[in-house]
Amino acid sequence: MIAPLSSAAIEMHDLSKVFDRRVKAGRFRRVNERHEAVQAISLTVPRAEIVGYIGPNGAGKSTTIKMLTGILQPSSGTALVAGLVPLEERVKLARRIGVVFGQRSNLWWDLPLADSFDLLRHVYRVPSVDHARTLAWLTELFDLGGFLASPVRALSLGQRMRGELTSALLHNPEIVFLDEPTVGLDVVSKHAVREALRTIHREQGVTVVLTTHDLADVEELCPRLVIIDHGRLIHDGPTADLKVRFGGERTLVVDLVEAREPLIVAGATCTKVDGPRQWLQFAPVISAASVLAAVAGQADVRDLTVQEPAIEDIVRRIYQGART
Ligand SMILES: Nc1ncnc2c1ncn2[C@@H]1O[C@H](COP(=O)(O)OP(=O)(O)OP(=O)(O)O)[C@@H](O)[C@H]1O
Ligand SMILES: [Mg+2]
Repeated sequence: MIAPLSSAAIEMHDLSKVFDRRVKAGRFRRVNERHEAVQAISLTVPRAEIVGYIGPNGAGKSTTIKMLTGILQPSSGTALVAGLVPLEERVKLARRIGVVFGQRSNLWWDLPLADSFDLLRHVYRVPSVDHARTLAWLTELFDLGGFLASPVRALSLGQRMRGELTSALLHNPEIVFLDEPTVGLDVVSKHAVREALRTIHREQGVTVVLTTHDLADVEELCPRLVIIDHGRLIHDGPTADLKVRFGGERTLVVDLVEAREPLIVAGATCTKVDGPRQWLQFAPVISAASVLAAVAGQADVRDLTVQEPAIEDIVRRIYQGART
């Protein structure tokens, strides 16, 4: 047997996308403007890896995923996904990848979820025995039993997203692209989605490219993190390293029973006070539990949340780090 040319799941070489946009120039005039949404990105993703692909709004994440999934033609550079050229070999590729765009739906709005899955079985020509087996597994994994008979339009966002993920996985793809699969979900639904993705990765060895604005998704799921900004790759490395190098300071937000002066807690800095609410920032080496214990020793706590650093903060720190 001839060895495949590429054993990586995804290979990009100088991949770029330029959009021509009509922009206003004066009161009546409009001119064409070139916008380089993705600029010469080179990246290899080995099989069975989960990589976080993050960046601020407009960084070019969705555009990259659209080029990799055969929706958009690259302006220059090359991409190979599962050894295929995405747009040229789109039909072949479709059977080997799964795609979820959190902002769009793969499902038929008025049909019961189960009917959408049945239609997808025909689209992907999955033998019915295989389909039944995979669907049973995914139904359990995403806990879909209670709403398989409901039309998609009647589902909550969390339920729909579990349905979307199922729809992308039903044909047993080897690579999945998830563009903001947790957008808008509450904490419980996010947790359920992450747990399910972890199981799928562990049991099926699928390669996952995950785009998100929630750094907790990346921390919990992706050992490798790629960051892009203004279409350019600005960081690629282990997620754990990034935390050590660029901070990753978290903030404990506590609602106290009564307003009081800023709390003094070893290892944490009170950055803001708003009535009974206080913000305590702490370094990644310190646990939220220890900060909370120190707070609870000084005041009565009504409620709390832990805020992860924003992606924009990390990007800013990367630029600052590059300058020093
Ligand atoms: N079809 C298009 N025509 C013109 N410009 C586009 C088109 N699609 C995207 N862009 C522009 O390309 C840039 C990158 O967009 P993209 O959707 O890839 O960003 P993103 O990283 O996914 O952002 P977000 O986090 O907001 O989803 C943006 O400036 C966007 O306005
Ligand atoms: Mg996007």
